[in-house]
Amino acid sequence: MKKLPLLGNISAAEFLRDYWHKKPLLIRQAIPGFTPLLTLEQLSAMARQNHVESRLVTQVDGEFDMQLGPLEQLPGRDNGPWTMLVQGVNLEDARADALLRQFRFVSDTRLDDLMISFATDGGGVGPHFDSYDVFLLQAHGQRRWRISAQKDLAIIEGLPLKILSNFVAEDEFVLEPGDMLYLPPQYAHDGVAIGDCMTYSIGFRSPTYQELGEAFLQFMADSIDLPGRYADADLTPAKNPAEIPKAMLASLTAELNKVRFTEEDITIFMGEHLSEPKHNVFFTGPAKPLTMGRFLMMASKRGVKLSLKSLMLYRGEHVFINGESFAVGKQDKAVLDVLANQRALDGAALVDASDDVNDALYTWYQDGWLELI
Ligand code: SIN
Ligand code: CO
Repeated sequence: MKKLPLLGNISAAEFLRDYWHKKPLLIRQAIPGFTPLLTLEQLSAMARQNHVESRLVTQVDGEFDMQLGPLEQLPGRDNGPWTMLVQGVNLEDARADALLRQFRFVSDTRLDDLMISFATDGGGVGPHFDSYDVFLLQAHGQRRWRISAQKDLAIIEGLPLKILSNFVAEDEFVLEPGDMLYLPPQYAHDGVAIGDCMTYSIGFRSPTYQELGEAFLQFMADSIDLPGRYADADLTPAKNPAEIPKAMLASLTAELNKVRFTEEDITIFMGEHLSEPKHNVFFTGPAKPLTMGRFLMMASKRGVKLSLKSLMLYRGEHVFINGESFAVGKQDKAVLDVLANQRALDGAALVDASDDVNDALYTWYQDGWLELI
């Protein structure tokens, strides 16, 4: 099993077995010599954009406050510590995407985004817990993390952000650039900047069963097929006209019980649901798209890659991209599976591609889901 410096020289399998979703792991120099991918100016320019999710957390006289982006202006340096948090940096920046993809020993169905925070001395978002697994990679300056396995996860009422009422640290570490702390969900933590500090959070997603159930029933509404209409040739006179007749109830119960969820229904639902881009993600195709012939010629020379924003998954004969699903034949599937796993295809892989694959690639290119390399 390959030992990964990223995980403190244990293998992904060992990490997943011993730590993932179970207990914290501090990894000194997970990425030796790591330097920030973006400057503070580049990060704040992102936070000014409408389609980027950002937050500003300020602390005045020890009181936390939070403002949602877009963030037109950042506070000065003498009004108390503050933190700017920018979500989904991987959707905007290829190097941030490449960093996130180092964590692909966990499936794309679980990997979420790269969030970058910038904090001034003493800044942080207060003691809290998250509902998701997270790797906290120190990118610039130092941060003191205090953490606790405490079961008391009560939060202070009435604040704009979730702060634990009774945080009691059990452990503390000062992280230097390149150091990384893994925390499982529901693990209490508080990170405070020592001087200017940037922290990169590699975050994961896990839908609630309620959210999945609601979305699944909506999905099924579009795909169930119940032919026929209620009929009652054997009707008898109503004694109590307002009462629902027993026979009608029995007949409808029998019909509705015919709705069955197959594993294939669930596969298609999962693929469409988990490959659906977030509400703030928009694709822009090329301003002057090439003709299909030219596109295919260039693609077979240079290859193609998925856009940073595209989500592509597959299972069995089903391929999913950005919320859409396709059932494909064996040969096409072999090509599309490579595109999904490598997020790119080299030119050679496209030489024998079928017309269906070529049509799909060209449409995705026009929609901005895929680019020429
Ligand atoms: C931060 O980067 O300031 C907050 C990250 C976290 O605690 O989850
Ligand atoms: Co947190």
